[in-house]
Amino acid sequence: MKTRAAITAVGGYVPEKVLTNAMLETMVDTTDAWILERTGISERRIAAKGQASSDLAVAAIQDLLRKTSYQPQDIDLIICSTVSPDHVYPATANIIAHKLGATKSWGFDMNAACAGFLYALRTGSQFIESGMHKRVIVVGADVMSCRVDYEDRNTCILFGDGAGCVLLEPTTEEVGIMDSEFAVDGGGAAYLYQKAGGSAFPTSLDTVENKEHFIYQDGKTVFKHAVTGMADITEAVMKRNGLSGDTIAWLVPHQANKRIIDATARRAGLTDDKVMVNIHRYGNTTNGTIPLCLWNWESQLHKGDNLLLAAFGGGFAWGSVYVKWAF
Ligand code: UT7
Repeated sequence: MKTRAAITAVGGYVPEKVLTNAMLETMVDTTDAWILERTGISERRIAAKGQASSDLAVAAIQDLLRKTSYQPQDIDLIICSTVSPDHVYPATANIIAHKLGATKSWGFDMNAACAGFLYALRTGSQFIESGMHKRVIVVGADVMSCRVDYEDRNTCILFGDGAGCVLLEPTTEEVGIMDSEFAVDGGGAAYLYQKAGGSAFPTSLDTVENKEHFIYQDGKTVFKHAVTGMADITEAVMKRNGLSGDTIAWLVPHQANKRIIDATARRAGLTDDKVMVNIHRYGNTTNGTIPLCLWNWESQLHKGDNLLLAAFGGGFAWGSVYVKWAF
């Protein structure tokens, strides 16, 4: 009998501080109407001073554990997907395990930009399917506000802070992580990236003065690739699994732009009532978007529901994961 990885619990956390479109109007040359029409975002959450990605992740995992009978020491592995790690090294997963008291867990970080959570979810599922581990936490956490130039209207309106997580456990039922497809195109790297701080452009006075530690995005180009990339890969997973708009219960898309979400939903043959959208409340939380959707919609999910998770982001990196809900 095949062992699959089932999502058996979800958790989430968003910081208290709210940054509204009206507040952004006082910071850069923009309007609430433009932001809402072009992106679908009304407000986003911003981490408190000193609150790092690990803090958001720990709060999300504690929320998850409260819904289970498990203690932090019961976790075997923590995989953290993030583009805003606490430090360049060590991995944020190590810090999360320490702060959480997950003394028996090992862990590592994954970075696939906005597609990171799906990459981490698929990676985590392999440890369950292979029989190596019984309880794996996959957490997507980002403090994007530390990466954003609040003088750049092209990017500062888009991003927010947050973390979401899932627990993976083995099952022999026909539920869990069923299938997936992933892609990368390094040719897209320069359209959405943080130029400096790595080995190609180490931090220097110049890189700081030139604002090269902030997000750079050529929005139009990324948009064009995202619309086709996310829809194509979702369609491929649907076809391979004989899924249609009728048999899918929910599309769980990365929340980068409501227009990209709508395009993916249309191609999948899904009506709006089957699409999870919380971009208006949280903006683009990068690795947090998909698990935060699962967190928000948890009470509406039923065992056996077909969920299609889809993301496209910097790198370019994109993917889609087919999940049969397990509880
Ligand atoms: O999560 C990772 C993946 N990221 C994405 O998927 C993001 C993909 N890109 C997008 O979502 C969109 O391209 C943006 C929301 C970033 C921009 O929307 P757009 O419809 O592509 O606008 P644009 O960049 O083509 O700009 C149109 C106009 C420009 O003015 P001109 O040159 O036509 O006079 C911009 O300067 O809108 C202007 N503009 C703004 N106006 C008011 C750009 N940002 C703003 C702003 N407020 N915040």
